Amino acid sequence: MKKTPEEKRMKVLTRFLRRIDRADDLQILRGQAHRLLSQITPHDLAVAERELVEKGYSAQLASQLSVAFLLMGTLEAQGTGLKDRLPAGHILRLVLAEHELLLCFLYDLEEVVEQIDCKEFLSDNSTEFMRLSHIVEHLYAMAEHIEREEDVIFPCLKQYGWTSLCLAAQRDHEKLQDDVDSLLRLIGAFRSNKQGEFKLRLVTLTESFCTRAREHVQQEDRILYPVALEVIKDPQVWKKIKAVCDEIGYCGVHL
Ligand SMILES: [Fe+2]
Ligand SMILES: [Fe+2]
Ligand SMILES: [Fe+2]
Repeated sequence: MKKTPEEKRMKVLTRFLRRIDRADDLQILRGQAHRLLSQITPHDLAVAERELVEKGYSAQLASQLSVAFLLMGTLEAQGTGLKDRLPAGHILRLVLAEHELLLCFLYDLEEVVEQIDCKEFLSDNSTEFMRLSHIVEHLYAMAEHIEREEDVIFPCLKQYGWTSLCLAAQRDHEKLQDDVDSLLRLIGAFRSNKQGEFKLRLVTLTESFCTRAREHVQQEDRILYPVALEVIKDPQVWKKIKAVCDEIGYCGVHL
């Protein structure tokens, strides 16, 4: 029986994922992934993942292979980097700039936490403690960035079928906001804690938060937004997204 176009795409895609698994020539794979990405739908990718699982791949490996495929396809498209491909005033420029800012805050947070950890006696009016509070307030204000993603950009990307990518990012957001809440609570309860306990909790929390946040930014910069740019081709849609963001008036400066 003749294969339907969907079945053909599936076959090509499944074979391609297996080639990534075998680590075939990366250069060639990258170029092909980019071409394939514009031909397939998110549904195709989900079905290909399922097929691999039926062939004996673990669910985790199958999903890693499909992420690797997205990464390859979008990296090829990136060439000079995502930011440089965006026209001035594009909403993703703002999103990427906020990611950069977040990375700066993460660095500052780690730096001040290390200083606090080395300090013999810490008071809540010391420079380090005030700097810590200030950085964490900025991290708290990142909620506006997350709202912009979840309320305006992701719903649009979901309309194109990329729901699972958005849901994974939303799960990260929840954890990141929980971490920031815990940091705020810890700072707020400074006086009622023993210094040793405070420091230990601060170091542990900072470590896991920073790792999670960096991974999240990387995932959005390298996969989610390159995919978004690939599938939302109509500049009018991006203009509408920006208009909604402007209307809501998110700023990122006000707490
Ligand atoms: Fe500030
Ligand atoms: Fe995000
Ligand atoms: Fe983001």
